[in-house]
Amino acid sequence: MPQSADSITYENLLIWNQEWVKATLAEDPNFFVKLANGQKPPILWIGCADSRVPANQITGTTPGDIFVHRNIANMVIHTDMNMLSVLDYAVAILKVKHVIVCGHYGCGGILAAMNNKQYGLIDNWLCHIKDVYRLYSVELDQIEDKEEKANRLVELNVIENVYNLCKTSTIQNAWKNGQDLQVHGWAYSLNTGLIKDLDISFVSDEKLNKVFKF
Ligand code: CO
Repeated sequence: MPQSADSITYENLLIWNQEWVKATLAEDPNFFVKLANGQKPPILWIGCADSRVPANQITGTTPGDIFVHRNIANMVIHTDMNMLSVLDYAVAILKVKHVIVCGHYGCGGILAAMNNKQYGLIDNWLCHIKDVYRLYSVELDQIEDKEEKANRLVELNVIENVYNLCKTSTIQNAWKNGQDLQVHGWAYSLNTGLIKDLDISFVSDEKLNKVFKF
């Protein structure tokens, strides 16, 4: 297994894949046969693309447990066909029971959105985070410590993206059809490995502003 990320080669990955298959089969000879039969994951994970926040490892789950969508800063953008397709398939077809938006403290996307530098094409994506900042600027501008301010924006960004999920026709139709579906917001700490539940779970459209209801 690797010592440090920069010493990993392309060939390493293929060798480690074979070792992983061997170890997995030694534990459960039917592991791949079962997974090949189909998936029924109870969870949809919307997380950051950051290499340090892999959904399965940090939750102690295995292949088949979590349907995953990741992008920079775990955003739910209403015109993002990629995200919408993953969401609709997970909710309407796979019938997941929980959708989790998981942000993380120290997120590069959040930090980049908080300054006034240009980074290229990604500036257009980060603009959505700046919108979250603007929405909560009264609260955020009162926080002097830079790290504390960034950590709060990580949480507020998760909260807004949970709202964004609840605004989609996919989630609202699931609730309308009586589907058992909850939407949650989490923040992961790179420093401790622990996940904080932000306690903003939605189980219906009750708390949603009426302009968003279909
Ligand atoms: Co990130």
